[in-house]
Amino acid sequence: MLGSTLFFGRNAHNHSRGNWKLPTWFAPSPEERLAEAHGSQCGFCTPGFVMSMYALLRSSKQPPTKEQIEDSLAGNLCRCTGYRPIIDAFGVFAKTDDSLYTASPSESANGKAICPSTGKPCLCRNETDVNGNESSLLSSVKTYLPSSYNEIDGNAYNEKELIFPPELQLRKIMPLRLNGFNGVRWYRPLKLDQLLQLKSCYPEAKLIIGNSEVGVETEFKNAQYGVMISVTHVPELHTLKVEEDGLRIGSAVRLAQLQDFLKKVIAERGSLQTSSCQAILRQLKWFAGTQIRNVASVGGNICTASPISDLNPLWMSTGATFQIIDVNNNVRTTVAKDFFLGYRKVDLKDDEVLLSVILPWTRPFEYVKEFKQAHRRQDDIALVNAGMRVHITEAEGNWIVSDVSIVYGGVAAVPLTAGKTESFLVGKKLDYGLLDEAFNLLKEDIPLAENAPGGMVEFRSSLTLSFFFKFFLYVTHEMNTKGLSEGLDVANMSAIQSYTRPVTTGTQGYELVRQGTAVGQPMVHLSAMLQLPNFPLGSLVSSSQKMCPVLTILGQLDSSKKRILGQLSMMGRFLHLMSLLVLARSLESLWQTPMIMQKLLQIK
Ligand SMILES: Cc1cc2nc3c(=O)[nH]c(=O)nc-3n(C[C@H](O)[C@H](O)[C@H](O)COP(=O)(O)OP(=O)(O)OC[C@H]3O[C@@H](n4cnc5c(N)ncnc54)[C@H](O)[C@@H]3O)c2cc1C
Ligand code: FES
Repeated sequence: MLGSTLFFGRNAHNHSRGNWKLPTWFAPSPEERLAEAHGSQCGFCTPGFVMSMYALLRSSKQPPTKEQIEDSLAGNLCRCTGYRPIIDAFGVFAKTDDSLYTASPSESANGKAICPSTGKPCLCRNETDVNGNESSLLSSVKTYLPSSYNEIDGNAYNEKELIFPPELQLRKIMPLRLNGFNGVRWYRPLKLDQLLQLKSCYPEAKLIIGNSEVGVETEFKNAQYGVMISVTHVPELHTLKVEEDGLRIGSAVRLAQLQDFLKKVIAERGSLQTSSCQAILRQLKWFAGTQIRNVASVGGNICTASPISDLNPLWMSTGATFQIIDVNNNVRTTVAKDFFLGYRKVDLKDDEVLLSVILPWTRPFEYVKEFKQAHRRQDDIALVNAGMRVHITEAEGNWIVSDVSIVYGGVAAVPLTAGKTESFLVGKKLDYGLLDEAFNLLKEDIPLAENAPGGMVEFRSSLTLSFFFKFFLYVTHEMNTKGLSEGLDVANMSAIQSYTRPVTTGTQGYELVRQGTAVGQPMVHLSAMLQLPNFPLGSLVSSSQKMCPVLTILGQLDSSKKRILGQLSMMGRFLHLMSLLVLARSLESLWQTPMIMQKLLQIK
């Protein structure tokens, strides 16, 4: 591996040294925006918001939209600021009309100020009170400095921000074997053969992909695994293929990758064959947040077999099958419906690995729908979820149910199939007349005891019925659009509309009565600025030689950073240096830390 060290990156303007180049920095950065727009209070959540914003800007080929910005922040929670100032702060990075942020209020015909944000008359304009003090009702759009989108779009970030050195990204990936504390061993095979060999040597080894589930088990539930095998680099588990009978989805495919792939397939194939794909895509929108979807995998979700998994009821109802491979290279296929055996227990032996999922195409007149009810839409676990599919065919001039699958999650240790209801529906014409009987059978199929884990029994029971009712309305409406069924009551139409959350808007109005220079004015609180240096100010500089000593560290802090460092207590400085050392450790250059420490302390 190449040697690497750290340098301070802020305000370093395109200096070239040998084979590396210091990037250009420019203001404002996401963290500065957050401070300026009053988007932090205790600062606990601030690094997370900033990192999410950087990740979006750095990965967007186009400047992000406001919707994308809000989606990317969905996994970040703040318990004190309130989200309006946070969203306001990052709003300037959106592809939008610059004038919202730069224009002064214009004047309407009657002389009243027009707010550049809403286009309506407002009181943004300052007025002078009888005492000569400036007084105004400020809306939030006036509270932060004008910034032009053109200066700070995502492309600019790609080009100019500090990046992980490409030389290190290009380095040859090797199989890994690492030894940890208490004899823990970590393997990273690069081929399926290697994985199967490891699995035959260590049948009880824990496979890991995104670690979003195993990490919780080891961190919070005291689970201990002696041998762990990361399968993130096994290409056979990363298949994403369009096949004749459906989609083949490798078990290690990340949920974010699956989202992109499904969008592409739906666009290419149209809606007829992709009703299942569409249902899974819609469900993924409400699956955790971007950060989790970027790492969590399809196989990790399936094999965890959580009773509240958002995808397992869908795999079951869509008729998906799972391919499983054993250490002797034998592949068997099982239907998703038979895979979940009990609470977090699946039909997978110690010498087996989940290889892939086959998601079948839907046929004409086959409809699939997803459901999830949680306390809030984004980044929350389901109270009840469900996947439902029906196939309607013509028989003797009638359109009847020929095949139906109704599966609920969050109601038992495993996803439950509503078998009696399914049998009742087959062969029948789907109309209002059969709803009462279907509801009665559903109550038998999905019983929730008074003391059922998760509580809220009445509410959850009513959800099982209302999901089915919505599904009935959805299918009836779809058939009606083809002239094959009666229309819906207007009163029921809203039940079939997908929920879409509009972009958040909000303004804060407050009276400004200036007294002297500062009293009565909004001010960025001091700790907001002090929180800034806690963000990494270091970057990687690669060297062509191994284990080379650190000769120098560039201390090119701009004046504002120097001021802030100056204001930091000794403890603050120490924490800041520690954060850099953690970075150094993660670079496998721990042997250099005493030198780095010494150099950093010299920076004035
Ligand atoms: C903040 C947060 C939010 C979440 N939100 C949701 C949500 O909204 N909906 C939801 O359903 N879940 C949610 N989860 C749960 C979790 O993220 C998912 O279950 C995720 O898909 C797990 O994938 P992973 O790759 O991280 O699994 P890992 O933690 O890496 O592995 C999980 C399990 O799967 C096994 N495994 C993985 N791959 C294979 C394989 N190929 N063969 C055999 N076994 C295998 C592992 O051994 C392990 O037991 C959330 C988790 C977190 C931390
Ligand atoms: S949690 Fe305190 S600022 Fe967000």
